[in-house]
Amino acid sequence: MWEIASDSKVLDVNSSYAYVLWCHDFAATSIVATLDGRPVGFVTGYRRPTDPSTLMIWQVAVDDSCRGHGIAATMLHHLFDRVRRSGVVAMHTTISPDNVASQRLFSSVAQRRGLRFERRDLFAAEQFADSHADEDLYLLEPELVEP
Ligand SMILES: CC(C)(COP(=O)(O)OP(=O)(O)OC[C@H]1O[C@@H](n2cnc3c(N)ncnc32)[C@H](O)[C@@H]1OP(=O)(O)O)[C@@H](O)C(=O)NCCC(=O)NCCS
Repeated sequence: MWEIASDSKVLDVNSSYAYVLWCHDFAATSIVATLDGRPVGFVTGYRRPTDPSTLMIWQVAVDDSCRGHGIAATMLHHLFDRVRRSGVVAMHTTISPDNVASQRLFSSVAQRRGLRFERRDLFAAEQFADSHADEDLYLLEPELVEP
């Protein structure tokens, strides 16, 4: 996971220890895709402490050599199917304005699942101590229907 994140040249790369610790404590809300036994993609997520019915996706990445084959979408669908069994109904994530691939990925997942797809401001570039783009919040939520 650390290597895939590092190779992506897009993601913030956490320490290798952070990924090991993450998998130790958040395996239930994370997933890894393998090809011939080799990890080629991963999703890290957690249930929001203030709203455990929402799965917050922290990072999603697929090895450059394997992109465009539905691996990221498949991981998100598998993960969402898994956590739905314990009461999760919505998925949130943050995406930078220039990351069209990720926006398309989540919009496609929302559409496939019949979820509302909405963008909101969250973290502005000036809130980060280092050089970092905005991180917009994307919400994939069940449609509200009037009774
Ligand atoms: C974003 C990323 C995870 C997508 O992985 P992937 O396995 O290639 O994505 P998929 O093949 O599952 O595609 C899912 C959808 O996104 C669309 N998509 C994927 N990459 C795209 C791109 N570069 N441009 C436009 N659309 C793209 C696909 O067309 C597909 O849409 P569809 O279902 O309507 O056909 C991958 O490009 C990546 O690892 N990028 C670097 C890390 C990153 O930016 N992570 C997200 C940070 S928030």
